Amino acid sequence: MKQILATVLSNSEILPDIHLLWAQAPEIASEYRPGQFVMVRTGEDHDPLLRRPLAIHRVSPLASPIQFALLFSIIGRGTKWLAQRKEGDEIDLLGPLGHSFRVQSRHLLLVAGGIGVAPLVSLAENELARGAHVTLILGAPTQDQLYPAHLLPPGIDLLVATEDGSAGKKGMATDLLANFTGKADQVFACGPVAMYEVMSSQTSIKGKSVQVSMEARMGCGFGVCLGCAIKTRQGMKLVCQDGPVFELEDIIWRGKKGSD
Ligand SMILES: Cc1cc2nc3c(=O)[nH]c(=O)nc-3n(C[C@H](O)[C@H](O)[C@H](O)COP(=O)(O)OP(=O)(O)OC[C@H]3O[C@@H](n4cnc5c(N)ncnc54)[C@H](O)[C@@H]3O)c2cc1C
Ligand code: FES
Repeated sequence: MKQILATVLSNSEILPDIHLLWAQAPEIASEYRPGQFVMVRTGEDHDPLLRRPLAIHRVSPLASPIQFALLFSIIGRGTKWLAQRKEGDEIDLLGPLGHSFRVQSRHLLLVAGGIGVAPLVSLAENELARGAHVTLILGAPTQDQLYPAHLLPPGIDLLVATEDGSAGKKGMATDLLANFTGKADQVFACGPVAMYEVMSSQTSIKGKSVQVSMEARMGCGFGVCLGCAIKTRQGMKLVCQDGPVFELEDIIWRGKKGSD
């Protein structure tokens, strides 16, 4: 983990209240693995005090020096501040942090719920470059909130679900899962906890390796504050240090007992 000042190269609102920020910090871009994140200081001084966790969305390895991107929704004070950064501004980052996705197959199914697409695009990019077959199920409330298809890496198989049916299949990303799990050896997902809870009860993925990127409120991002602990079948784990990527079957959802 390093503390780095990254220079903003561009910062644009690619969807309503969703920003794509490209920055230059070769130390982060060259060391990271898909699924890892950075803790971003989102203020000039120490207000807000806590850094905000954001996944590394993608890197541009051919650029010199190498660049990386963050994709983020404007939620509150911190992300609003970040959305206002302009070309040439510096942002203070800690990272890369956490464990990456662990790929052991050549047929990957990725499931993205909304902004959960953020860490999955670089995973897709890396695996396509290695010759793997990658299918992405992209879910969003409406067509206007869908990650733009032209920004996805070429060669990816894309399936879309929107809750109002304005694009793709009407429904949730998880509704499409059963049709495509047969072709995949491993499933990788990022989205809200509610999406994972649905997935954990889907019989089509039973017996498959399903890795999910968990969200938690984070104080430090590197195992000191213990604020991001979750219950797993191996005991309490820290999302920042043991994750954020976990096997879906290892997570104990609220209201369930360890022996379930
Ligand atoms: C490992 C990890 C990676 C993440 N990657 C991304 C990403 O790539 N893109 C992205 O848009 N978001 C990502 N998030 C979520 C992001 O960290 C929060 O949206 C952000 O911290 C909100 O900060 P804020 O100051 O704008 O909002 P705040 O003012 O801090 O909070 C506003 C609201 O957002 C909720 N909130 C704040 N932090 C979180 C959180 N960590 N998880 C869930 N709800 C939260 C609060 O409960 C509150 O209701 C990630 C979270 C984790 C743990
Ligand atoms: S965020 Fe502090 S221990 Fe995980």
